[in-house]
Amino acid sequence: MNPTQLFDPASSTYTYILYDERSREALIVDPVEEQLERDMAVLTQLGLTLRWTVETHAHADHVTSAAKLAELTGARMAAPSGCDIGTAATQLGDGDELVFGAERVRVLHTPGHTAGSVCFYWERAHIVEGEQTPAGTALASKFGPESRPESRQDTLHVFTGDTLLIGGCGRTDFQSGDPAKLYRSLTEVLFKLPETTIVWPGHDYKERTQTSIAVEKSTNPRIAGKTLDEFVALMNNLNLPPPKRIDEAVPANQRSGLSQEAGYGQANPVDGYAGDIPPQKAYEWLSTGEAVLVDVRTDAEREWVGFVPGAVAVAWKQWPGMALNPDFDQAIQAAAAGGKKLALLCRSGVRSVAAAKRASALGLTAFNILGGFEGDPDDQAHRGHKSGWRHAGLPWKQN
Ligand SMILES: [Fe+2]
Repeated sequence: MNPTQLFDPASSTYTYILYDERSREALIVDPVEEQLERDMAVLTQLGLTLRWTVETHAHADHVTSAAKLAELTGARMAAPSGCDIGTAATQLGDGDELVFGAERVRVLHTPGHTAGSVCFYWERAHIVEGEQTPAGTALASKFGPESRPESRQDTLHVFTGDTLLIGGCGRTDFQSGDPAKLYRSLTEVLFKLPETTIVWPGHDYKERTQTSIAVEKSTNPRIAGKTLDEFVALMNNLNLPPPKRIDEAVPANQRSGLSQEAGYGQANPVDGYAGDIPPQKAYEWLSTGEAVLVDVRTDAEREWVGFVPGAVAVAWKQWPGMALNPDFDQAIQAAAAGGKKLALLCRSGVRSVAAAKRASALGLTAFNILGGFEGDPDDQAHRGHKSGWRHAGLPWKQN
């Protein structure tokens, strides 16, 4: 079955893997930190290349594995623009589309559970005969293999996060929730989708797996047949306890699941420098002013290949001849003025390690940005397809 539905029992969260049958390019919706290994195993088992990690909102009940998946697979991170998830280079607005192979999902902005919440609508393009839930996935063993849908109409899917649940909807009493907005999102956006659209919820607490727009429109006890005022009154009187992990989960999710110090570096200095960080973390530090991003490539590389706006240029070596820059020590100390952390960027992460070690020997706190600006070469020795700043979709310019 495509999408592949996976379950996290601790938070009752559903994660979905969608993929293009031919190219095997994939997109994952709402991945859960504790299930990282399982999700990596499913991707491998299905022979998929992960292109996107996406979130329906900044969750309060679990922490995402988006940044870790992005680092391990080279996928790009996308998140709703209204959710303050600054680590995601792709910020999603209503109507935006994310492409994986020949497939695409469309973003539906559905505020209410949170102001930034979105759903993802997928008109699946390809139908393959005889497809089944892959053996060994959580749901295959839990619920038994499911046959693929029979008709063309069954290929419409919507991933609703906490906006619409099976016989329910997300709460609206915290995190910028608004019951009137949720009413409009449900009745004017989701219930306007074709009735055969399969609804894949962000959670279920009773082991149910899917529903449809037709079923929810006519039977959902929260919303079916209710006026706006009735719905708002009902939502305002739910009196639910706060989610257990809200204080920890929301801030962590606004960093795509990266821990405060990224889980890299500082606690465990790597061989003579402060540590390695993924490009997304360096971009977050650059955006917040927490660190100075130092480009240690040559003047020629910045000029011809491209550069990161806001980065400070301190070459480690210079062309022609790639001789060590005699002014490096002085320039790197000036860049770190006031005790700022440094995040060092080169082409693919080799010179930046050497430069980070030298900066550390000078008493500075210097991190290496994994993959550099262009990333590692692929099978054809081409850069830019595997890892690094540009591959992560982070901002850069060319003169
Ligand atoms: Fe939520």
